[in-house]
Amino acid sequence: DWTNESVIDEQVELIRARVGSKKVICALSGGVDSSVAAALVHKAIGDQLTCVFVDHGLLRQDERVQVEKDYVDSIGVRLVTVDAREQFLSQLAGVTDPEEKRKIIGREFIRTFETAAAELVLEAQEGEGEEIAFLVQGTLYPDVVESGGGSGTANIKSHHNVGGLPDDIQFQLIEPLRALFKDEVRAIGRELGVPEVIVSRQPFPGPGLGIRIIGEVTEERLNILRKADAIAREELTKAGLDGEIWQCPVVLLADVRSVGVQGDGRTYGHPVVLRPVSSEDAMTADWTRIPYDVLSVISNRITNEVDDINRVVLDVTSKPPGTIEWE
Ligand code: XMP
Repeated sequence: DWTNESVIDEQVELIRARVGSKKVICALSGGVDSSVAAALVHKAIGDQLTCVFVDHGLLRQDERVQVEKDYVDSIGVRLVTVDAREQFLSQLAGVTDPEEKRKIIGREFIRTFETAAAELVLEAQEGEGEEIAFLVQGTLYPDVVESGGGSGTANIKSHHNVGGLPDDIQFQLIEPLRALFKDEVRAIGRELGVPEVIVSRQPFPGPGLGIRIIGEVTEERLNILRKADAIAREELTKAGLDGEIWQCPVVLLADVRSVGVQGDGRTYGHPVVLRPVSSEDAMTADWTRIPYDVLSVISNRITNEVDDINRVVLDVTSKPPGTIEWE
């Protein structure tokens, strides 16, 4: 595609001219924007770029592998993974308030990334001497408009994107996607060879599964939710519904139990909620009319395959008055 290629070529030139022989870092989240931004910068300057991926333990099934293996194999980028799962879990222990969870996850993310960045800066200083001067961010055009808008609407949920970094950071920003919309970013990502599992990914909130467990976040609950979420996504994809669905959060009602029966026995397990929504921009949304037979397969599989889940319920609330996420 001529247009995509020319956008790529133009950005590659700009990035090369600006960076020179200096070094660059990028916080990779596994989402579309940071993955495509990093791929573009890598095309321009190769191993002068190092990506940092923070595994906070709130990721979905296979997400880490998709970054560490699929993405790295196809892009060839240098990647440092920080396994911070225990740190995040211990900071989240006992916390049930949604905004408190967001605050903790955002704070721990910044701490973890800054520590990793500081180590890389030190390494660079001890090495050949080229300093790390730039930080890549996957900012898109709608993000630029939104933050400059100042519409004065009430803050319903604090939406700090995890990956949102402190203002006093010592790096200059490289934002190669600033003029683009999401579908253009996806097209460029495909052109650059970013794996389809990443390019076509649904939006996923920075705080991850942490705000899809209603109640305290624990490792056991995360494992339960990860399984249920993977089944729902697999079946929705199989049914060809990805184009129609903006997002389908699966929410674990961890403090609710209900009675059920399975095999010869009584169960007393947790419900999960399916929250399929259709939307243009996440500002408003309608619940997606998923065919009953697809819902039926998802419900049967989740209750059969995931221990401790004995009920699947469907959220049929539009936004407004509901939000997309439950927290
Ligand atoms: P709500 O729940 O407000 O979500 O209707 C709108 C969109 O924003 C995502 N979302 C978040 N993204 N950090 C993020 O990076 C957050 O704290 C956060 N909360 C919600 C949500 O997944 C949906 O796409």
